[in-house]
Amino acid sequence: AGPQRLRGKRVVVSAGGTREPLDPVRFIGNRSSGIFGCEIARAALAEGAEVCLVAAHIDSARYPHGVSVVEAGTAAEMERAMRAASREADVVVMCAAVADYRPETTSSTKLKKEGTRSTRLTLTLEATPDILRGLVRERRAGQFIVGFAAETGDDRSVLELGQAKARRKGADLLAINHVGADAGFGDVDSRIVLVDSRGEVVAELAGSKPQLARDLVAHIAHCLS
Ligand code: C5P
Repeated sequence: AGPQRLRGKRVVVSAGGTREPLDPVRFIGNRSSGIFGCEIARAALAEGAEVCLVAAHIDSARYPHGVSVVEAGTAAEMERAMRAASREADVVVMCAAVADYRPETTSSTKLKKEGTRSTRLTLTLEATPDILRGLVRERRAGQFIVGFAAETGDDRSVLELGQAKARRKGADLLAINHVGADAGFGDVDSRIVLVDSRGEVVAELAGSKPQLARDLVAHIAHCLS
């Protein structure tokens, strides 16, 4: 069963993408499949960790067997679930794609176009809390926190955006990945660059998502040892 480098450690992984409701049938969401987060949870299990998966709209068939799952579908639910699950955790991996903005109000009935003549609709959005920053701020001694940065653009701007984000968020490790219409989402090979809280590059990983997840978890285990 592998080297069991996380035996006795409690690991929390958030995964998937939040959906912020406009009304009972519509939401603002994103393209995250949850595959990578589930693979990270699986890899941590394989290293002997006790794993909690905080899942936002992931097909339940993807949940790795043996993790405990908490479902959290919106940024607000995700914040609550992550704060609770992180209280006792040794490692927190914030892999979920959390909405940065949500509708300021949610209608309890379906929004209708009938009766309005307008060809435009303006939505007012409000910022959501930055969960990762909050977790970093309130972390318990010795807790290791990993964040993600999905960026678009050429390789150089992706790295620079990610490095700036690393310094802003303060996580121990930030995994920068390149996304776009034809990269990063679903079951595809990817590349990630790991930077520390100062934005210094500490590793570059490439491969399938299961392979990347195993390499990332091995890197985390190495940082803990
Ligand atoms: O700022 P940005 O959304 O690009 O940051 C990405 C990282 O921050 C990810 O680890 C994501 O899970 C986390 N995040 C968060 N709360 C938000 C937005 C992003 O924890 N509201």
